[in-house]
Amino acid sequence: MRTITSIKNAKNQEKLVMITAYDALFARLFDEKVDMILVGDSLNNSFNAQSDTISVDLDMMIYHTKAVMRGARNTFVAVDMPFGTYTDEKIALKNATKVYQQTGAHAVKIEGGEARAHIVKALTSNSIAVVGHIGLMPQFARSEGGFKIKGKDAEDTKKLVEDAKAIEKAGAFCIVVEGVKEDAARAVSEAVNVPTIGIGAGRYTDGQVLVWSDMLGFFEEFKPKFVKRYLNGADIVKEAVARYAQEVKEGKFPDDNFIY
Ligand code: KIV
Repeated sequence: MRTITSIKNAKNQEKLVMITAYDALFARLFDEKVDMILVGDSLNNSFNAQSDTISVDLDMMIYHTKAVMRGARNTFVAVDMPFGTYTDEKIALKNATKVYQQTGAHAVKIEGGEARAHIVKALTSNSIAVVGHIGLMPQFARSEGGFKIKGKDAEDTKKLVEDAKAIEKAGAFCIVVEGVKEDAARAVSEAVNVPTIGIGAGRYTDGQVLVWSDMLGFFEEFKPKFVKRYLNGADIVKEAVARYAQEVKEGKFPDDNFIY
């Protein structure tokens, strides 16, 4: 199983693989297949049919993380701190401590760059491991008027680099870089000594993360350009359920093989 040290040491050595999970069933399937599992607040989109992550609360994240921890016993697990739970150092430390103690997760993830570096520092200096998250930050989508790709010009790229450096200095041991132009993500990755984990950030980050229900084709509402579907999950499930329904209606299930 990965440790914080081995994750940091992977920089410039090997690509890191992260996937989200929200429950024990799928976490068990992903266990030991990836370097890290993220209990992302994206669960609000795919599991909860909400249009953003804002309404996720701490108890939801704790519930889902406990389930993931039971499923993925041999994989490093990080958990998103939800919107509004890290507005200042004191609140962040109280809430992250609760998550850490109640779930057993190995790290928490915080959205925000330089402006949130003091929060990252408050956690890391109290022995809570932090994954940073910069670029397109879904918790800012409502206040920014949508999901906006970052790093489109030199000034924006400079800001991303400063953000990454600030949270690295504050103790983040790796940084998720989301929705960023490839060149900008490359500049960020080259500027820091901790691994960057890209999502919609091109080829030059130190690792990749995808939302499981996107990459396995279960989430059908929309497909961002960066998502590669490795399975047509929704089609397979719908076809199987339709077959089951038909067999029940036709009296074909259960047959001799499925009765006591
Ligand atoms: O919530 C989430 O799944 C995330 C990933 C998109 C990185 O933060």
